[in-house]
Amino acid sequence: MSGNESYDRVAAAGLDTTHGAILYLEEITVSFDGFRALNKLSLDISVGELRCIIGPNGAGKTTMMDVITGKTRPTSGTAYFGQTMDLSRMTEYQIAHAGIGRKFQRPTIFEQHTVFENLELAMKTDKRVRPTLFARLDSEQRGKIDEILKLIRLNGSEARLAGLLSHGQKQWLEIGMLLMQEPQLILLDEPVAGMSDAETARTAELLNELRGKHSIMVVEHDMAFVTEIAQQGVVTVLHEGSVLAQGTMAQVQSDERVIEVYLGR
Ligand SMILES: Nc1ncnc2c1ncn2[C@@H]1O[C@H](COP(=O)(O)OP(=O)(O)OP(=O)(O)O)[C@@H](O)[C@H]1O
Ligand SMILES: [Mg+2]
Repeated sequence: MSGNESYDRVAAAGLDTTHGAILYLEEITVSFDGFRALNKLSLDISVGELRCIIGPNGAGKTTMMDVITGKTRPTSGTAYFGQTMDLSRMTEYQIAHAGIGRKFQRPTIFEQHTVFENLELAMKTDKRVRPTLFARLDSEQRGKIDEILKLIRLNGSEARLAGLLSHGQKQWLEIGMLLMQEPQLILLDEPVAGMSDAETARTAELLNELRGKHSIMVVEHDMAFVTEIAQQGVVTVLHEGSVLAQGTMAQVQSDERVIEVYLGR
């Protein structure tokens, strides 16, 4: 799928992205008993962009994802999905339904089901039309599952029980399940935590294949991984709840403030 098709799908979902941004955060503050986990955070993501977010522990990265997905309400500030959807007025369910998909660190796959069944269960379908797991799939649906199986490097393992997969494979399966729902924006919080070096490298390849097809926000501490996927794209450095620096990986890596609070340690 091309970047343009990605735009078209956004348009089809009723999102007006005339300005090319899929997500806008403006001056978001989140206070926990007076402590500002986010402090006037402003950031936006373009359609089809792969944005890396880095920063020290406690910088507010996960809290930002909680705000985007409706898990945490901002104390002040505005959050928009496309031009028209005010995330602060939507429930977690409505936000997920509108097309923001999130992968948590602990996989939420169905261990007693096969890899194939997990993807099938995650498929975006009209539940009124096809209510059961074992109803027959049409060729388009099979094709979709086959495409995702290849992408997540689990083709050949579709009949395996998900519970028997390696840690890395479980993470990929969960990414595959997210993709089955065709989200407009994908949020990944530390996707390579706990992975072997080989698994980390393959996850970077996977994300590079998704580049341009989906809008993706990735939070990671693994700098080798971030360098692999950032390429010439924008890397945002969060610190104490706001943006400390933003630019290419090379730019933020040579930024004195970034070195002082994060990379130099
Ligand atoms: N529900 C909460 N109640 C109180 N404080 C919280 C809550 N959630 C997060 N915090 C605090 O907000 C700050 C930001 O936390 P957050 O989890 O967003 O950081 P992070 O950038 O994701 O860090 P890490 O890299 O360690 O995952 C931390 O100081 C954390 O202790
Ligand atoms: Mg976090």
